[in-house]
Amino acid sequence: MKLRAVLFDAYGTLFDVHSVALLAEQLWPGQGQSLSQLWRDKQIEYTRLVSMSGSHDKPAGAHYRPFWEITRAALRWAAARLGLAMDMASEERLMNQYRHLSAFPENREVLAELKQRRIPAAILSNGDPDMLGVAVKSAGFADLLQHVISVHPTRRFKTDPAAYALGPATLGLTAREILFVSSNAWDAIGATWFGYTTLWVNRSGAPPEQLDTQPSHSGRSLRDVLAHFPVH
Ligand code: LAC
Repeated sequence: MKLRAVLFDAYGTLFDVHSVALLAEQLWPGQGQSLSQLWRDKQIEYTRLVSMSGSHDKPAGAHYRPFWEITRAALRWAAARLGLAMDMASEERLMNQYRHLSAFPENREVLAELKQRRIPAAILSNGDPDMLGVAVKSAGFADLLQHVISVHPTRRFKTDPAAYALGPATLGLTAREILFVSSNAWDAIGATWFGYTTLWVNRSGAPPEQLDTQPSHSGRSLRDVLAHFPVH
């Protein structure tokens, strides 16, 4: 099967979500890493909670709210969990940092090389359109991506199939023809189940998931994408 495009996850894959730990560490010395980790875990937990929950008269997804709001709610929870007194000013500083996350160092070069090789590249993210727009612009990626796809119109977060379905629909390709790239193992597994060809960029050397499915490929940096699109 010839791969015809690349679809990237955003947070954790293109943008380093733990770069907020540096600011958190300045605000609360010794707690930056824990806050960052708890914040991220709670944020993902909330996406699942709101995607899956409904009631006898409301379908699943009834509690959907944009990723920006989920992110703020998760930050408040994480600060409370660690017993940190977070005033409005600190909350805004952390949220603002989240809006302008650092990109992993190799990413620009990989996106530029894909463009050079005429391989369409896009994002498919849980982020809502506003926050993705700012992140892409502040990382300087706007000219390197053909589409920035947010799950927002579906009111479902990944790993809901409705969210993954936006990729093939937008790119006009089958899921198998698209290399879906994520550093989040759960996202790589969800996308594999959906039908994408997948690359798990396992930056942290995490053990593989134990659900009897593995991503089609795995690697350690975004550079591993390029091997799937040889120059002719
Ligand atoms: C995203 C998060 C889940 O960008 O990493 O979709």
